[in-house]
Amino acid sequence: MEPVKVGLLGLGTVGGGTISVLRRNADEIVRRAGRGIEITHAAARDIEKPRSFDTSNIKLTTDPLQVVEDPEVEIVVELIGGDSLALDLVMRAIEQGKHVVTANKALIAKHGNKIFTAAREKNVMVAFEAAVAGGIPIIKAIREGLAGNHIQWLAGIINGTGNFILTEMRDKGRDFADVLAEAQQLGYAEADPTFDVEGIDAAHKLTILASIAFGMPLQFDATYTEGITQITRDDVTYAEELGYRIKHLGLTRRTDKGFELRVHPTLIPERRLIANVDGVMNAVLVMGDAVGPTLYYGAGAGAEPTASAVVADLVDVVRALTSDPENRVPHLAFQPDALSDLPVLSMEEVETAYYLRMQVQDKPGVLADVTRILGDHGISIEAVIQKEPREGCPHASVIMLTHRVIEKNMTDAIAEIEALDSIEGAVTRIRMETLNAQ
Ligand code: HSE
Repeated sequence: MEPVKVGLLGLGTVGGGTISVLRRNADEIVRRAGRGIEITHAAARDIEKPRSFDTSNIKLTTDPLQVVEDPEVEIVVELIGGDSLALDLVMRAIEQGKHVVTANKALIAKHGNKIFTAAREKNVMVAFEAAVAGGIPIIKAIREGLAGNHIQWLAGIINGTGNFILTEMRDKGRDFADVLAEAQQLGYAEADPTFDVEGIDAAHKLTILASIAFGMPLQFDATYTEGITQITRDDVTYAEELGYRIKHLGLTRRTDKGFELRVHPTLIPERRLIANVDGVMNAVLVMGDAVGPTLYYGAGAGAEPTASAVVADLVDVVRALTSDPENRVPHLAFQPDALSDLPVLSMEEVETAYYLRMQVQDKPGVLADVTRILGDHGISIEAVIQKEPREGCPHASVIMLTHRVIEKNMTDAIAEIEALDSIEGAVTRIRMETLNAQ
């Protein structure tokens, strides 16, 4: 049988990895897919640029539309990123009845509902394993492997760059900017690295994970998003003293009132396996009612780990080329007419525990004022430590861990604490989760 001809949009890090993996593992891929898979057409902004991978036998162009519209191309692999040109090209490919494989999390998180509707109308597949957690087959694991479960929550380290930065800051005391520059050089960071450090990239991925875990429409705009730029070395150290690690987590949970959908730095007990996921590695912890907790770990970024997911999608699409479209795995795991209409909760409605750090005047009655305010808002304290003022600084640091409370109560309490004369500056608040089997 003739190999399936694939058109590639984008010859960057992941595009190069995809070409290399498809060529190196060609024999294994034929054994699995039943047919060869060949990249025959590719588009890139600069086709003259010297590249470290072999583009011979690939028809190159600077015009991605030419690739999409070439009648020989049966599957379009979109690796250009962004959600404007990429959206036009993907919609055009679908209109032409072509299957699509994409690694583009922004595209799926923001426009997936529209893309999947169009794909269903045209009976084509849109596969997006590489959009979340690089090489970890987390979409397949949740969508198919956990299909017998009522999923309760999931929590993931789903941005490799952010995890790499937090790990280097903790282990080597390196500066934020210095580590970010290295992540960019290694090809982990987004084209706009604020997407990594402000949590937007993780929010794209969490939006997708929540939809396939709970069967809800993609709702990127409802995802609470907070990055890692405010995390200080002091917070990392104090958290460790208390037996916790700070990780940048994407967390989604089903409650009676609605879905929590949130990305923020989080203290987690250091004894949890996921607390020990370091560097650029990603991990997703999923709690199903039948299976209990399951943890998926692997490289979350980089050329070949991400290509591993792209190629797996290509194999899936090729296997399904002759299957009945009605019997394919639904894009969002659940049948499109059975999606949940439960709302996404605002952050103010979410219940969690907290780490608080504040600068206080070292005089009698200050702690009593703070604990009274917390008590007035129904907030119970789990632990307190006070650090002596540093030389030349009149204020001591007080660090508190609290029990779980609705975020609104904590926001109101913090406003009152910050208004005390004895408190200097803003109170640092970092959310805290035990991630136990409840
Ligand atoms: N910038 C992303 C990360 C790449 O660091 O995880 C993979 O999506």
